[in-house]
Amino acid sequence: MKIRKAVFPVAGLGTRVLPATKAMPKEMLTIVDKPLIQYVFDEAKEAGIEHFIFVTGRNKVAIEDHFDRMYELDATLEARGKRAELEILARDQPQAGAVSFTRQQAPLGLGHAVWCARDIVGDEPFAVVLPDELVLHSPGCLKQMVEAAQALPDKSNLLAVQEVPADQTHQYGICGVGKRHGGSMFEVAGMVEKPAKGTAPSNFSITGRYILQPDIFRILATQPRGAGGEIQLTDAMIGLSATQNFYGVEFAGERHDCGSKSGFLRANIAYAMARPDLRDGLREEMKKYLGT
Ligand code: UTP
Repeated sequence: MKIRKAVFPVAGLGTRVLPATKAMPKEMLTIVDKPLIQYVFDEAKEAGIEHFIFVTGRNKVAIEDHFDRMYELDATLEARGKRAELEILARDQPQAGAVSFTRQQAPLGLGHAVWCARDIVGDEPFAVVLPDELVLHSPGCLKQMVEAAQALPDKSNLLAVQEVPADQTHQYGICGVGKRHGGSMFEVAGMVEKPAKGTAPSNFSITGRYILQPDIFRILATQPRGAGGEIQLTDAMIGLSATQNFYGVEFAGERHDCGSKSGFLRANIAYAMARPDLRDGLREEMKKYLGT
């Protein structure tokens, strides 16, 4: 199964991190020195993705600008001989024609956002990557998934899953565990979005990485609103699981929910501590604040 395209839903309002997201897209929040959207773009590129599809909304033009060339900046850096900075910009620049943008028009939910990408994806399996969830690991989460997907039969769907404490399952999409498929994969036996406390079929939460068959679009087209009055991707996946298999893959890596204030702060510390150029300085600063 060749996965060439990835969809990045970036049309949400980011209400959990207001006021930061009043005029700025949540996906442009910075972890250390890069916006969230660049991390997931890099992760998808590493996984072999060739076309990057952004489902945007109002107030999100900064994302489009981020992936464009900035001629004034390039020219000024060039004139000042700032080679290292120019190299950073060149490194992060997508190939011309490799990115597409479409607008969701109204934030009706993740399922609706994915459906907005239907014509650009076409009739092939594709990845969905949520930019507010980062996974700190090399190789990246999506690369691990694309490799795992090679062992699956045609027309399979694959979800990145990670165990969460039992008292937190009500905050996540949770999947039941069926037959094991190799060391880190299992057949998904039922899915439920944010199950009531004590009713979750397992502790395996569905994280923000999916490999889906294009048949999901047919289901999303008529998917009614679910939890929170939003068109939920999980509900459409439940519909698709009647005719196609879903698998869960336990990925290696630390997951960070950067769409919450505490998760955003934690991610900044984790990513800075993973950087040899910043680690020691940060450790010293932290010691001061922790009083040790
Ligand atoms: P979230 O629920 O985490 O994002 O959706 P949100 O709605 O922006 O955040 P809060 O809860 O108000 O703080 C996960 C991803 O799906 C996108 C978001 O932009 C985010 O990247 N999304 C969500 C859409 O593109 N459209 C939607 O209607 C909802």
